[in-house]
Amino acid sequence: MNAAEMQFLDWPLGRSSIQVITFWVTLTLVNNINCKMRLVVILALASLASAKIQHDRYVLNSLSNRTRDESYLKKYSPDWTDLDTRPLPEWYDRAKIGIFLHWGVFSVPSFKSEWFWSDWKGGSLDCFNFMYKNYPPGFTYQEFAPMFTGEFFDANEWAQLFEKSGAKYIVLTSKHHEGFTLFPSKRSYSWNSVDVGPHRDIVGELSKAVRSQGLKFGVYHSLYEWFNPIYLEDKHTNFTARVYTDTKLWPDVKQLVNDYKPSVLWSDGDWEAHDDYWRSTDLIAWLYNESPVKDEIVVNDRWGIGIPGKHGDFYNYADRYNPGKLLAHKWENAFTVDSKSWGYRRNMKLSEIFSMEQLLEQIVTTVSCGGNALLNIGPTKEGTIVPIFQERLTSLGKWLEINGEAIYSTSPWLSQNDTLNGNVWYTCTKREFNAINPIAKPKPGDTVTAIYAIALRWPPSNVLVLRDVTSLLHSGNYQVEMLGNEGDYLNWSISNGDAKIRFPNKAAVKSEYAWALKISAK
Ligand SMILES: *[C@@H]1O[C@H](CO)[C@@H](O)[C@H](O)[C@H]1NC(C)=O
Ligand SMILES: *[C@@H]1O[C@H](CO)[C@@H](O)[C@H](O)[C@H]1NC(C)=O
Ligand SMILES: *[C@@H]1O[C@H](CO)[C@@H](O)[C@H](O)[C@H]1NC(C)=O
Repeated sequence: MNAAEMQFLDWPLGRSSIQVITFWVTLTLVNNINCKMRLVVILALASLASAKIQHDRYVLNSLSNRTRDESYLKKYSPDWTDLDTRPLPEWYDRAKIGIFLHWGVFSVPSFKSEWFWSDWKGGSLDCFNFMYKNYPPGFTYQEFAPMFTGEFFDANEWAQLFEKSGAKYIVLTSKHHEGFTLFPSKRSYSWNSVDVGPHRDIVGELSKAVRSQGLKFGVYHSLYEWFNPIYLEDKHTNFTARVYTDTKLWPDVKQLVNDYKPSVLWSDGDWEAHDDYWRSTDLIAWLYNESPVKDEIVVNDRWGIGIPGKHGDFYNYADRYNPGKLLAHKWENAFTVDSKSWGYRRNMKLSEIFSMEQLLEQIVTTVSCGGNALLNIGPTKEGTIVPIFQERLTSLGKWLEINGEAIYSTSPWLSQNDTLNGNVWYTCTKREFNAINPIAKPKPGDTVTAIYAIALRWPPSNVLVLRDVTSLLHSGNYQVEMLGNEGDYLNWSISNGDAKIRFPNKAAVKSEYAWALKISAK
């Protein structure tokens, strides 16, 4: 970080870049530069100022749209250029942490992964042997569905656990690639959770329970279905026919959105066809313009070949994507607590489950770099969440109770991890939410109210050495305290450009893992 960047912190009064440029130009002009040069400078200034004014107007419009000011009725046209101008609904950036649930008929074999059916039919030897050893000859995947009983499924109990974990939103597989729906799809006869298996509307029950705990409810939905004959016929025409899209996919999604009003539509299974086959932009325009959740809903980026990382309210890129650096667009790291699978596996081992340290490393690095963390667990076919997952979620909740201030509603800071100690990750809080670019670094005019430095490891000899906050601390205007031990201000010294911060006695510290320092103005 250079001195100029550092200065942003000392501009709480909202001095705009235009004022600074004006000042600079005035000085330059006084310094008797030649006429042509003067003109160039003035023209550049004029275009900058007009861009700034237009941008501000745009931000204002977008904000009023978000706050449902009826005087501004933006209608999005069904093309990516226009859809991409939609400001991010604020709740999503503030939430930071969600829980992903992979539940379906694949939870019955609960072997290998949620891709079991496709792997088995695709000739995977371990799946073939598993079936050969454990099921009668001729047994079909469809015969697993009645065993998807969910007899212990208690939506309120789940929702209470999720609330306790500190997560702010839930994403449930309303339909995975197997095509089985956890709601009574009118177009998935006898292949949904009301007709067969639990005989319950899982999406309906969980959406109510989750909302009653004050969390947002979202749905995962697979565009393609491995073995749906109508989809396969479209595929056979090289996706020139859209019978599946028009008669199954979109009517189902509209039923899902109209009936359950999800706050997230997490799309997947897009990779065999282009967005024009899926009619992705039409659907998203409907979501943004007309759906009952038009101001609230966020969608990810899995909408056809070439779309991930390019379009959507937030980007997932690939599974478990965590770049370790700041990105230019809101993104989400969807990862699994069972390192091997999204769906439940009966034969998972403790060593394959993320430790709290690993889990927090994912969350902290993700949030520092502008992402949300969506941690996945797979419930069992009986409708339970196994104790090891309960334990991780509860421990996360305890950590967030102490350290949530450094996570929720934060923004990326000037540095993401410290230049000297890369295991220390920064976040900050800003007075204003930026709907257009929520994950931008603080810039002139932003008011930074606090900076958080989260140490993933306890420092040797209780002294944390940092480089990127040295000038800040050197100014003498800031104080440092550890979350959980507020008011107990920490001592530091500065030498050779590094700040050496003395941690409190470990026995007196509340947090068990990943310690957050809060740096704020005295
Ligand atoms: C689909 O594409 C393949 C490969 O380009 C071609 O061989 C086939 O004839 C096409 N099928 C149709 C129905 O257009
Ligand atoms: C910061 O994090 C990135 C990503 O994990 C890593 O590659 C880099 O080495 C870290 N910086 C330092 C100084 O360790
Ligand atoms: C900071 O230093 C002062 C003076 O040496 C000492 O009294 C105080 O206990 C220290 N505080 C902490 C939190 O270590």
